[in-house]
Amino acid sequence: DKSIEQQLRMVLIGPPGAGKGTQAPNLVEKFGAFHLSTGDMLRSQVKQGTELGVAAKKIMDQGGLISDEIMVNMIKSELSTNQVCATKGFILDGFPRTIPQAEKLDEMLDSMKKPLQKAVELKVDDELLVARITGRLVHPSSGRSYHKLFNPPKTEMTDDITGEPLIQRSDDNADALKKRLHSYHQQTEPIVDYYKNKGIWSGIDAAQNPAKVWGDIIKCLGF
Ligand code: AP5
Repeated sequence: DKSIEQQLRMVLIGPPGAGKGTQAPNLVEKFGAFHLSTGDMLRSQVKQGTELGVAAKKIMDQGGLISDEIMVNMIKSELSTNQVCATKGFILDGFPRTIPQAEKLDEMLDSMKKPLQKAVELKVDDELLVARITGRLVHPSSGRSYHKLFNPPKTEMTDDITGEPLIQRSDDNADALKKRLHSYHQQTEPIVDYYKNKGIWSGIDAAQNPAKVWGDIIKCLGF
């Protein structure tokens, strides 16, 4: 099936602040694929005040991880019902975050005969991430992110596209970041080897400016 061959089906891996949420909209624009950010999905549950949202907020603010079972089910329902994912493919951002999540994702995609094509790792040393995270501003409803110094909005604290106010995430402070980095190194980094072994991994120097990072992503996707 040609439409399946032409789809983009990829995972973006990287520590908090690596630039996953910054680069994903570029991929959406270029390929029309769907941006699935589990962090954004959880924050939307928090905002709606659902039972999951209330429980998740505590864990997120402490820099921990939500259970694999909840996250796998969340992704499963999205991948099986989302029309854009079905026709144009997807960019997974923030998932998988553990080896069990990576294994379940493969099971799901294999059963749909739509295996992952690429796992792109955005590599940045921890020291650079503190300034990125503490200066980040986000537009909650779209997930767009800005930075006070590195990528400021045209008007202070205002989303360029909708004109709505920007906010700081409650987990974007130095303390929570330390814990998020710890979770990343302990639980998420092992998925890099998992994808290396599958032969679909590419690593990118994400300490460069965003335009250079984007250029390298395009290159590693073969464009
Ligand atoms: P999530 O929302 O996924 O957060 P994260 O992984 O910590 O990633 P971030 O969104 O912080 O970073 P990013 O790489 O998108 O950075 P950005 O592009 O904005 O998850 C939040 C929480 O939800 C987790 O801690 C966990 O509790 C839970 N969770 C989510 N998924 C889960 C799962 N699968 N399993 C279990 N729990 C889960 O960039 C950051 C800043 O830097 C911005 O201000 C940006 O403008 C700037 N910037 C970007 N690129 C550059 C550059 N090249 N140079 C200079 N500045 C740059």
